Amino acid sequence: MEEGHLPVLAEEVVEILRPAPGSLQIDATVGGGGHTERILEATDPDGRLLGLDADGAAIARVDRRLRPRFGDRLVLRQANFRDLADVAPAAGFGAVDGLLFDLGLSSTQLADRTRGFGFRAGGPLDMRFDARRGVPAAELIASLDAAELAALFRRYGEEPNAGRIARAIVDARRTTQIETAEQLASIVERAVPVNPRARRRIHPATRVFQALRIAVNEELDALQAGLAAAMNLLRPGGRLVVLSYHSLEDRIVKRFIAAERKGCTCPPELPVCVCGRNPRLRPVGKPVTPKPEEIAANPRSRSARLRAAERIAA
Ligand SMILES: C[S@@+](CC[C@H](N)C(=O)[O-])C[C@H]1O[C@@H](n2cnc3c(N)ncnc32)[C@H](O)[C@@H]1O
Repeated sequence: MEEGHLPVLAEEVVEILRPAPGSLQIDATVGGGGHTERILEATDPDGRLLGLDADGAAIARVDRRLRPRFGDRLVLRQANFRDLADVAPAAGFGAVDGLLFDLGLSSTQLADRTRGFGFRAGGPLDMRFDARRGVPAAELIASLDAAELAALFRRYGEEPNAGRIARAIVDARRTTQIETAEQLASIVERAVPVNPRARRRIHPATRVFQALRIAVNEELDALQAGLAAAMNLLRPGGRLVVLSYHSLEDRIVKRFIAAERKGCTCPPELPVCVCGRNPRLRPVGKPVTPKPEEIAANPRSRSARLRAAERIAA
């Protein structure tokens, strides 16, 4: 069992990655180890996988669960994938056949009452994947002014009521410190007007929590850095698979693949290429989304979008 987190699009990931026996693979976001487990099964008997996660608790759980079955075919490191360019070669994975990013957070993290990722689970507003890095969400909530909070909710949450919510937070913190997910959720709930005709499909705090988590973990910068590092780790013919869960991430992945497919970055008015950059990726198939059966069995998969590309010799 994956201890509460069901891997999303698991069959599709393996089908597209085509992990072969003897190959080297990287799972940059091990989480509950669901994808890792399937990739290791597909590379039986001698494929090896480097699994990273910023969350030390996730690494420890996967180590306990999968080590007995896969032994030293599984190499685990607590690390941020933004550091992939250093971490992977140091672990003996300097040139690999497949690389997976399954972005965001796991169901286990969302349900953890000590981390504050979810407004339903509650708990202290921390939200760091790696408690050794960055500042907790409560500190951002306490220190940013209304304009900065509104910009954050708008940029990372695409929240239409960003200004109103930011002002409600600033008002509330005049009398109390906002330290828990429950407190923040109820402030947001009270600040957002209820429109009885257009029943919101999502809880009003969803976008605010997403925005804070992205900011706390600098998720979009990490993704850019991770993708850039992946290019230098993939062997020609090696495949990159990315699962994203909201449009901000997906846009970065889409643009990255498009730019690496094109290669040349010269302005169109130049008659000949002077940058000398060659295409390094070939997109594989169209973006994939979960089938209705998967969404019914695992509602969290609802917003997933998979993009894949193959490294070509540059
Ligand atoms: C959606 S879960 C992965 C689930 C996993 N594929 C499975 O099958 O169980 C995402 C994981 O990525 C981790 N994560 C998010 N951003 C990260 C980063 N920049 N570096 C390393 N790990 C990260 C989170 O801690 C979380 O455990």
